[in-house]
Amino acid sequence: MTLAQHLDPTTLRQVFGAFPTGVTAVAGLVAGEPIGLAANSFTSVSLDPPLVSVCIATTSGSWPLLRCVPRIGISVLASGHEDMCRRLASRTADRFAGLPWWSTDDGAVLLAGASAWLECSPHREIVAGDHHLALLSVHRLAFDADTAPLVFHASRFRRLAD
Ligand SMILES: Cc1cc2nc3c(=O)[nH]c(=O)nc-3n(C[C@H](O)[C@H](O)[C@H](O)COP(=O)(O)O)c2cc1C
Repeated sequence: MTLAQHLDPTTLRQVFGAFPTGVTAVAGLVAGEPIGLAANSFTSVSLDPPLVSVCIATTSGSWPLLRCVPRIGISVLASGHEDMCRRLASRTADRFAGLPWWSTDDGAVLLAGASAWLECSPHREIVAGDHHLALLSVHRLAFDADTAPLVFHASRFRRLAD
């Protein structure tokens, strides 16, 4: 195996995309309206204190608003949420119209039917190249062990096999 030395964006995307992930909806209430986006960069970071991270492109229109809200909801999208995910990544004015979202008392926006839910707040953030690496503190959480997650791999949605 010869390792490529030319780190062009296409090769980087292909190699990064060889790592299968779940997909999350990262969302919060901004002036009473749900704002958020689809993100597969969600990662668990620390148990004590409870921390997770997401990487958000510096071009994101949502993040400058989300980073200022007291609570950010993270929903782990479920198998069958492919259309919901596309919607949350689209340029549609109101991504949440028609989606089964609800908000916590503190303004985290979560999606019904997900595999897991976390209520978080911004903890620390660094600029990492063309992304913001955002560490989030976890305040409350829940999961549904019977709901299989959506899987993203090689730029395609997939489902876990039994
Ligand atoms: C499966 C999937 C995963 C994605 N993961 C991320 C991610 O981790 N970080 C990111 O910044 N954008 C990610 N995106 C792209 C954003 O959802 C998309 O660019 C969105 O339009 C950004 O919206 P905004 O400009 O309102 O923030 C992903 C899109 C898809 C379909």
